[in-house]
Amino acid sequence: RIVYVNGRYREQAEASVSVDDRAFTFGDGVYEVCEVHDGALIEETRHLDRLDRSLAALRIGWPIGREALRLVMREVVRRNRVAHGLVYIQASRGAARRDHGFPPPGVRPGLVVAARSLDPAAIAARAAAGVAVVTVPEVRWARPDIKTLQLLPNVLAKQAARDAGAYEAWFVDRDNFVTEGASTNAWIVSAGGALTTRQADDSILHGVTRAALVAIAGGLGLTLETRPFTVAEAFAAREAFFSSATTIAMPVVSLDGRPIGEGKPGPVALALRRAFRERAE
Ligand code: PDD
Repeated sequence: RIVYVNGRYREQAEASVSVDDRAFTFGDGVYEVCEVHDGALIEETRHLDRLDRSLAALRIGWPIGREALRLVMREVVRRNRVAHGLVYIQASRGAARRDHGFPPPGVRPGLVVAARSLDPAAIAARAAAGVAVVTVPEVRWARPDIKTLQLLPNVLAKQAARDAGAYEAWFVDRDNFVTEGASTNAWIVSAGGALTTRQADDSILHGVTRAALVAIAGGLGLTLETRPFTVAEAFAAREAFFSSATTIAMPVVSLDGRPIGEGKPGPVALALRRAFRERAE
């Protein structure tokens, strides 16, 4: 496996970053995950736009130019022969003696780009069966809209899901509204029939897949409501699903052990999934 690290393509076993890298000491950096499908980078522009926004929010400069990064992404995909999978981009504030304040000028941002294959058949099988979700309390900081490397609440939430035999965890705030998943955006088709997902404010990551599905929904004649929904609404929903770069629209068949709708993947989630794959990029 070949990875790109700070200007060089290396065998993974030989690649290294400084122990002073602030991604390591402070989680002081941002990342992106872009899907690779049939060798193509899916929604690349939206991912690079969001990377730009995350970097700007943390006042980290681009480690290399946008066009250079596009080339590196392609090169990493090519060198690892990834037809279906993902590209992982991680940018940090760079390596400097540990001090909470920003490092002195001249310290360059760090950049790691890696790619790996995923089995599309396994993902399709999961979508055909649907997955279980559990709820966990929303304990994250006030800016989940920035895609930072600080993912401890998300890590603990995902593990809580695994421990419960579920695939994903949905964060629920103090007013019982679902914010989003540990690594996905949350959706329901409400009892009234409206496709519903939280508005893209500072309480959730502005999912690239979420934005693409919002754009697709109109063309499918679906009524869309971008607003918060409660756990009670999710229990009463016709269907539920979540979205991310690698899961697209993943049907949710149970929430905290209770079946959603008929307890099987819903037609809206499956239609959105199909439409996402079939549209011209
Ligand atoms: N996760 N919400 C959170 C908290 C996420 O981490 C992600 C992405 C999403 C979905 O965003 P998108 O549609 O742009 O992938 C929502 C990536 C895949 C990850 O952490 O691996």
